[in-house]
Amino acid sequence: MVICLREGGDLVGTVNVNGIVRGCYQRGMLGYAAFLPYAGRGYVGEGVGLAVAYAFGELGLHRVEADIQPGNSASLRLVRRLGFRKEGISPGFIKIDGVWRDHERWARTADHVY
Ligand SMILES: CC(C)(COP(=O)(O)OP(=O)(O)OC[C@H]1O[C@@H](n2cnc3c(N)ncnc32)[C@H](O)[C@@H]1OP(=O)(O)O)[C@@H](O)C(=O)NCCC(=O)NCCS
Repeated sequence: MVICLREGGDLVGTVNVNGIVRGCYQRGMLGYAAFLPYAGRGYVGEGVGLAVAYAFGELGLHRVEADIQPGNSASLRLVRRLGFRKEGISPGFIKIDGVWRDHERWARTADHVY
């Protein structure tokens, strides 16, 4: 999905709910990115929030996950603001630029009360 400005319709970022597993899991994984020059203005956070609501609503998921490198401050702030909680860290979790990188595991469930 793309994230657009309400006024003017400029593309400000992208968000996806990937790797959906149904059955007794009902979970999906978030991916998102901001497009310059719109980064850092709260637009992507708002768009990701709408995508999470869509995942719990229309898609009927129980759980949405985000895997984030420990140094990715903007991404960590974004999910924290959306009510995700840190569940742990997975060493060497995703290969990026040829290196297996550690990732923090963040998630939110449809019935979260934390
Ligand atoms: C992660 C990313 C999507 C955030 O986009 P963004 O446009 O900054 O998002 P928002 O403006 O909605 O806000 C993100 C939060 O991070 C903060 N932030 C933005 N840039 C920051 C930086 N360089 N360092 C620390 N915090 C930063 C914002 O102030 C905001 O925090 P707040 O809600 O407490 O005010 C963007 O940095 C990006 O595209 N990064 C590259 C791709 C990526 O890392 N995707 C996620 C993979 S897990």
